[in-house]
Amino acid sequence: MTGIPEAAAAEHARIAAEVREHDRRYYEEDAPTVTDAEYDALIARLLELEEAYPALKAGSPTAMVAGQAVAKFDKVLHSKPMLSLEKVFTEEDVRAFVTGIRNFLRLDAEEEVALYAEPKIDGLSLSLRYERGVLVQGATRGDGREGENVTPNVRTIAAIPERLKGAPDVLEVRGEVYMGKADFLALNARQAEAGEKIFANPRNAAAGSLRQLDPAITAARPLRFFLHGWGEVSGPMPPTQAECMAWLGAFGLPLNPRSCLTRDIDGVMAVFRRLEAERAAIDYDIDGVVYKVDRLDWQDRLGMVSRAPRWAVAHKFPAEQAQTLLEGIDIQVGRTGALTPVARLIPVSVGGVVVSNATLHNEDEIARKDVRVGDTVVVQRAGDVIPQVVRVQLDRRPAGAEPYVFPDHCPVCGSLALREEGEVVRRCTGGLTCEAQVVERLRHFVSRQAFDIEGLGEKQVKALWDWGLIRGPGDIFRLEEQDAASLTPLRNREGWGSLSARNLFEAIRERRRITLPRLLFALGIRHVGERNATLIARFFGSAEALAEACLTSEERRAQALEELQTVDGLGPIVVEAFGQFLAEPHNDATLRDLLSLLDVLPPEARASDSPVAGKTVVFTGTLERMTRDEAKARAESLGAKVSGSVSKKTDIVVAGPGAGSKLAKAAELGVQVMSEEEWLALIGG
Ligand code: IVH
Repeated sequence: MTGIPEAAAAEHARIAAEVREHDRRYYEEDAPTVTDAEYDALIARLLELEEAYPALKAGSPTAMVAGQAVAKFDKVLHSKPMLSLEKVFTEEDVRAFVTGIRNFLRLDAEEEVALYAEPKIDGLSLSLRYERGVLVQGATRGDGREGENVTPNVRTIAAIPERLKGAPDVLEVRGEVYMGKADFLALNARQAEAGEKIFANPRNAAAGSLRQLDPAITAARPLRFFLHGWGEVSGPMPPTQAECMAWLGAFGLPLNPRSCLTRDIDGVMAVFRRLEAERAAIDYDIDGVVYKVDRLDWQDRLGMVSRAPRWAVAHKFPAEQAQTLLEGIDIQVGRTGALTPVARLIPVSVGGVVVSNATLHNEDEIARKDVRVGDTVVVQRAGDVIPQVVRVQLDRRPAGAEPYVFPDHCPVCGSLALREEGEVVRRCTGGLTCEAQVVERLRHFVSRQAFDIEGLGEKQVKALWDWGLIRGPGDIFRLEEQDAASLTPLRNREGWGSLSARNLFEAIRERRRITLPRLLFALGIRHVGERNATLIARFFGSAEALAEACLTSEERRAQALEELQTVDGLGPIVVEAFGQFLAEPHNDATLRDLLSLLDVLPPEARASDSPVAGKTVVFTGTLERMTRDEAKARAESLGAKVSGSVSKKTDIVVAGPGAGSKLAKAAELGVQVMSEEEWLALIGG
């Protein structure tokens, strides 16, 4: 790519590849290996590089952050193009902009150029077409000439009126769709809770929310809108920008109350400084101030250059930066073991917010910027993104400052920290023994796709860990026995009672029987998601065979791993990760411990081959050959969906003695009903 330094292009390509891999793990394997914050830091870095070198945006995963790639909308040709804006950064640039206008229009020295000043909102532009006062179309900007038809979604935005009072027959208006900062944070919190995608910033959240194929999703997102211009308009308009905006506002379109008319350069500069000072306190992201020549006849004469009007300019705020001293580099270990360097700073105010930590992203970034302890560094905040170290003030480097050496051991547990080829992140290999990771690992261990222990969610795992009752997965299965002998049994602890403790023990007991793929998946081995766990389990065939091959001697294990490489669908990366896991003595011990405690069932037949794959099944009445949970687990492992109630979507009702209303409902809906025996015969016993 021309004009892009090789190092930036290479870094972008590497991080983009990493992000794609995380997306794949998240969406396809449901097994993310980075925390949201780690993921966001990668996205933030991509955006930073793309801001500096926009050509990098082509094909970048940042375009998908907001779910853009999934959407398929009809195209809309804009009747008048949607323009972009020229940017300026200094007062001098603003003066040159006005001088350029004066020269172009050949204005006399005493003639004033009144400018209309508006906050530049960091959202996405939208064109709205009203015919006879009724909203008929909403379209994104797209490439400026052609956008996407998002009308059903636009109709869900409360600030956008469906009808305008007294508007001309054809009225096209343009404005910015955006999300407030508080709404953005709340949305991300909800997304995180629901295990959904986290947005990198309010703009991405707004774009992702508007460009949804399902308008119900847009409706649930807190989108707002401010008017900033117009396209095709039938009939006459007032003669100035300020009057036109007021005219449009009177139809019911939302205007930004912070916009105002100024008489000259000093006027716009005063607005600029005021908005810059207010910026942090404004409830939505603004990244500058837009100045527009007020007189429309002058706007017409000025016309445009390339795709931007000659009569308007965006005066951008400087990135919010400050200098301070870097006192140290702390290594944080994320819940998934990623080592993230964080700059410990002498607190400094950056754009009105005190910053004492800033991300250094990863070890390559430290090396690239040559950040050393004792350096004076420039820190930056951009929107709501985590503060970052931008660069080092080399002229202020103290004598004897040493290059930073990134640790190759985990600062929390001391285990080896490895960086895989092609990866930017170094990770602790301590897994279940690393305090930074153990709660997350245990949470994964008991999660739905793994041991699926009811009543043992994140909160309970954390509490049991804090009380010292579980230190590793094996302890879960010793909990009941230990509790019986304990002076402070679980039932007497905060948040627990006799019933909840009893239920938990029962749920744990039920899960002592577990299939080998689930056990392998539960271990949280890197690259071993559900699919790979199943492939590995099928290869060994049983827990005994796996133990014989992997836990007897190093030679035997090396041989087994070599054979494992030949399995269709298991790449060398997966096998290597599996091997690395077993090579750590603490993992080996954990696996042995679990095998001694559990009754491990061989892997099931391929679920998609089963006669019940994709079917929705309801169990009702008393089952005699298996518990309800066993029946459910078995059906699910064969690809069926188990539901608690009978509906039109139900395919099979398995009814035992005592079945009541569900059986009646099945008969009413004509759903197939079978006995437990028939069910077992169907699924092969
Ligand atoms: S006027 C004729 N006014 O900035 C010029 N744009 O960098 C058309 N934007 O695509 C835009 N706030 O999405 C204008 N007060 C404002 C704006 C604004 C945000 C966005 C808009 C445009 C982009 C150009």
